[in-house]
Amino acid sequence: MKLETMQYQTIQVTPLTPTIGAEIAGVDLAKPLTEQQFAEIHAALIQHLVIFFREQTLSTEQHKVFGRRFGKLHIHPTSQMPGHPEVLEIKADENSTWVAGEVWHSDVTCETEPPMGSILHITKVPDNGGGDTLFANMYRAYELLSDPMRQFLEGKTAMHEGAQVYAGRQGKDPNRQYPVAEHPIVRTHPVSGKKALYVNRNFTTRIVGLNKNESEAVLQMLYQHIERDDLKCRFKWRPGSIAFWDNRCAQHQAMWDYFPQKRYGQRVTVAGDKPY
Ligand code: SIN
Repeated sequence: MKLETMQYQTIQVTPLTPTIGAEIAGVDLAKPLTEQQFAEIHAALIQHLVIFFREQTLSTEQHKVFGRRFGKLHIHPTSQMPGHPEVLEIKADENSTWVAGEVWHSDVTCETEPPMGSILHITKVPDNGGGDTLFANMYRAYELLSDPMRQFLEGKTAMHEGAQVYAGRQGKDPNRQYPVAEHPIVRTHPVSGKKALYVNRNFTTRIVGLNKNESEAVLQMLYQHIERDDLKCRFKWRPGSIAFWDNRCAQHQAMWDYFPQKRYGQRVTVAGDKPY
């Protein structure tokens, strides 16, 4: 489905679906952004939740400079590129036993102040195709719940734990401590003011105040709800593509359907604030 391109002053914005995602043309992200370019890219991110750029050639330093326009850079609790702690390397090949982001999630929600956004630059795509990333709209997920379910979730919080994601990974110390945070199940986006569902399969472990079986039943129902097709878009990477997603209102999942092929990239993550 090709939706109509919108001409902003400095960029062109073509939605991928009516619900989430837009491709942006007309800007070279390796160069410093003007105030107008910055304002338009930010507006497109807020409107479409995830924005995509094609044919971008960025050094690691230029990638960080672009990220810093949107805020302080986040340092990942377990994965940091040597010499560039603000960069998370994406690397899958014939030796990989896991890849980042295989399970639906919003980034690092186990922290008290989870990242606002993430900017992924893919430089190598699998030779035989695959390796797409799916994104889902959490405002829409909230809106599509029934009134009684929305009322039930109102004011409730859930625990998000890093250990269930990071502790089992190859090379990680099983005795190490990982971040844990408690967040509202429904958060309000600080810019749009809209409510978004904020639990995810990767990090959320339980709903505070419910019995274990109650919590598990409600979380499983919400995870299935979040993954319905009408909330999603699917992005097909090419070398030099960039995706910039808003973790406050979108979740994503990386498809690992290309083993033993290679896929490489780098992610810079913009720090966020405490969800409310
Ligand atoms: C991630 O969760 O940041 C990984 C996304 C991807 O590799 O497509």
